[in-house]
Amino acid sequence: MSLVDDAARVRENAHAPYSRFKVGAAIRTSAGNVYLGCNVENVAYPEGTCAEAGAIAAMVAAGEGDIAEVAVIADCPNPVPPCGGCRQKIAEFASGSVPVTMATTAGATRTVTVADLLPGAFGADHMDKV
Ligand code: THU
Repeated sequence: MSLVDDAARVRENAHAPYSRFKVGAAIRTSAGNVYLGCNVENVAYPEGTCAEAGAIAAMVAAGEGDIAEVAVIADCPNPVPPCGGCRQKIAEFASGSVPVTMATTAGATRTVTVADLLPGAFGADHMDKV
């Protein structure tokens, strides 16, 4: 089963009664383990969380922190891109060369790198003078 298939499977569990936009995310780590997340919305709208954030939280809770590959999927016209905040969250645990596959439930995919998604990223080196 591919990482996109994993993301599609967990997407079914998304709690998205407000946007009705279900998202699934799957992360494979350098250790070869897969962590899953879906969006979890809240009636207090800003309290909702993205699928990618859920997958990252599961990875960190399991004691891992080295992302090797990401997949994200939704039912949309074009492969779903991670939101800006999730790009920064992914970059915390992934090198710029890590592939991110964006997918639609209809089967379209587009793979780019973390650096493609977040050019000029703010990183720890920007705080070298602190
Ligand atoms: N969403 C994600 O889960 N990941 C993204 O990268 C894009 C947006 C969710 C958040 C919200 O529950 C719904 O999609 C609509 O924005």
